[in-house]
Amino acid sequence: MDGLETRMKGDFTNLPTRVDIAKIISAEYYAIEREKVFRRGWLCIGHTTELPQKGSYYVYEMPTFETSLLVVRGQDDKVRVFHNACRHRGNKIVREGSGCKPNFMCSFHGWVFSSEGELRAITDEHQFEDVNKAELGLVAVTSEVWETLIFVNFDTTPRESLKDYLGPMFDQYANYFENHVKVGAQRVVLDCNWHLVVNSFTEGYHTLYIHKDTARDYQGGKTNPQRHRPWMELFERHHRYSAPGNPDHVILPSEALAIKHGRKLLPAFDFDSTDLPPGVNPSRFDKWAFDVVEFFPNLVILTGKNFRAQIFSWPISAGQTLVIFQNWLYKPKNFGERISQGYFRSRGRDVVREDLNTMEAQQQGLSSGAIKEIVLSKQEMALRHHYKVLEETMARP
Ligand code: FES
Ligand SMILES: [Fe+2]
Repeated sequence: MDGLETRMKGDFTNLPTRVDIAKIISAEYYAIEREKVFRRGWLCIGHTTELPQKGSYYVYEMPTFETSLLVVRGQDDKVRVFHNACRHRGNKIVREGSGCKPNFMCSFHGWVFSSEGELRAITDEHQFEDVNKAELGLVAVTSEVWETLIFVNFDTTPRESLKDYLGPMFDQYANYFENHVKVGAQRVVLDCNWHLVVNSFTEGYHTLYIHKDTARDYQGGKTNPQRHRPWMELFERHHRYSAPGNPDHVILPSEALAIKHGRKLLPAFDFDSTDLPPGVNPSRFDKWAFDVVEFFPNLVILTGKNFRAQIFSWPISAGQTLVIFQNWLYKPKNFGERISQGYFRSRGRDVVREDLNTMEAQQQGLSSGAIKEIVLSKQEMALRHHYKVLEETMARP
């Protein structure tokens, strides 16, 4: 045994050790994937905490379905999702960004919609011979909220509820997500297939190499030099694993100053898991750093004690992906904590850039078709599960 042995829970049968990547990154495969994986799946598009009051809204561009979404908290406090398109001649109601408004007026001819999506006013209404305002509200997208995460489903009639889609994870994150505030986000369009993005964030095998300069000793340590995952758990579609912190991590003077004024985030970790819900550090590993959770198909969340990171991968085409990386941290109580968070944010940004930097390089290596198969280890079990779930989803009628 060369280091820590991974404890496992779930169905580990029939996980592929080789994946036909040439097929999976092809345009033909993606055309079917868009319908079977993305249109039928529950897709996370943000958090209710981004809509702090009645009338709060944000625009979410969804390149996978070439649509723009308007996400709104109504005057009744309910969060709804609409296609961001005017019922008159289709103009985008809100061009971009976020804010708070009692209603939305289309800039083209002035039609007004309420924050519940109803058409309230038509300019010079009597000149229209055949309109019924009650039928011309904004077009709704099926949406549900789980623990502050807002999910949409683009199927005509969703084949299952969000609760069923989430499986056992549904009850395991009570009050976790609302403890954090979004402190930064990066959006980048990469010339690579979306699977390469998801895959890059769901294994720790790369960390010794890719992050050797920015986060040299943040995981593993003397007793676990290859940084084996202490815990791996597979669900019907999703999975999560825990990353091992390094108890021997050398704290630099600048990091010590940041820790003195705030909480440990990364590369030093707060190992105390007592107040976390059962879904976070589920095995209660004593030198725990954070978990990596994949919500199939395209959302990866790193759930930590005082932080989380979220990576959304939205395919634009078979060879292009919009990546949204968000950093969420504990709510700072004073200026010292805010400054302390700044230190960790800048370190985290460099680490993420290193991750993002691998994806186009992989695509270049794979897109010629010279390499048809990729081979995966036990420490890349999450990727093996991802591709098993993908095959199962694609095989459904
Ligand atoms: S397109 Fe919106 S009012 Fe005409
Ligand atoms: Fe990484």
